[in-house]
Amino acid sequence: MTTRVFYLNQQIEGIPNLALGEPSSTFRLATEKLQPLKDGQVLVKALYFSNDPLQFAWINKASNENAGLRRIFPGEPMGALGLAQVVDSKADQYRPGDIVNGSFDWAEYSIVSAQAITGKIPQSSLPLTTALSTTGLTGLTAYFGIKEHVKEGDTVVVSAASGATGLVAVQVAKALGCRVVGITGSDEKCKFVQGLGADGCVNYNDPEFIGKLKQALGEKGTCNVFFDAVGGEILDKVITLMAKNGLVLVVGFISGAKNPAKMAVRNWPIVIASRLTIKGFNMSDYVHRAPEAVVDLTKWSLEGKIRNDPSVLNVVDLSEESKFADIPKAWGLLFDENKKPGKVLTKLADPK
Ligand SMILES: NC(=O)c1ccc[n+]([C@@H]2O[C@H](COP(=O)([O-])OP(=O)(O)OC[C@H]3O[C@@H](n4cnc5c(N)ncnc54)[C@H](OP(=O)(O)O)[C@@H]3O)[C@@H](O)[C@H]2O)c1
Repeated sequence: MTTRVFYLNQQIEGIPNLALGEPSSTFRLATEKLQPLKDGQVLVKALYFSNDPLQFAWINKASNENAGLRRIFPGEPMGALGLAQVVDSKADQYRPGDIVNGSFDWAEYSIVSAQAITGKIPQSSLPLTTALSTTGLTGLTAYFGIKEHVKEGDTVVVSAASGATGLVAVQVAKALGCRVVGITGSDEKCKFVQGLGADGCVNYNDPEFIGKLKQALGEKGTCNVFFDAVGGEILDKVITLMAKNGLVLVVGFISGAKNPAKMAVRNWPIVIASRLTIKGFNMSDYVHRAPEAVVDLTKWSLEGKIRNDPSVLNVVDLSEESKFADIPKAWGLLFDENKKPGKVLTKLADPK
């Protein structure tokens, strides 16, 4: 039995080259024979891959070795979080037909150790893709980032609010009784965020961004918690609107992904004047508590407080065999300024 699999050809230094077959290509596609399963291994067929900015860090030459991040080096298979179906198993806990989530290769079929599998996806009335969105890495980041740091009645600002993490953060904050204002890069995306229940949303490309944000924050014109996945200029502006003793939760710095020079914060003295707390958030600190988040997120989903329909997903369907080679391009959608709102997923197959 053979499988197609993507390898990392070159670590990235800036923008990845998603074309295949060039000396500077970031990825290389190969077809190879699958080895017989050993004890404790599972053969899985890929159903969906999650596309995450985190993968950028896994393959970035400049990633800090001390950041505790997974690193992928040239000649190693490219990895992704994903959903897969078990085809064959030499691990007691998995049986053919099980649908599982975990850490897989960018491959049609992967042989993984049972430890690479997070768990079986239980039967549910929610769509299967919920396991990679609302209750996947981005949804759990939103859940713990918000739930652990807000109280009912707080005013919360969420940047990158139409993205995978932000859209769940907005809905979790609403479910917990906060006033929520989103930030996105277009009026259309703001409409989407308000459709999720946000009390307001402001387009950061609007020349009157800061004035409009202040207005959206209500009578006081300040916020208590800023859930920030963007950093740079947006962070620099929003900290001027933080209430005394407010909290900036640093979840990401996507504005600096292409150009670290954009990360500068000039309004830093306000951190002292307003007694702000700046706190780094890392989802890996909460992995052991994922089951409690899944319970709440599933409950809120079934109550209609969190959406899991196609409007919150950005699915690239590569289930036709000839489209497999487009996996890097689907991932590249993450960096496309015109991408639609929602969690970017790559579909490879439906479960059997
Ligand atoms: N700390 C953790 O444990 C953890 C866990 C998961 C994710 N994260 C981080 O959270 C961030 C969001 O991840 P995601 O999966 O939600 O990504 P995503 O779905 O791709 O959404 C990212 C959003 O960021 C916005 N954006 C991109 N470039 C921007 C810029 N230069 N300025 C302002 N906004 C920009 C885009 O929206 P607009 O079109 O509105 O600009 C985009 O929708 C990433 O930085 C990721 O690394 C952190």
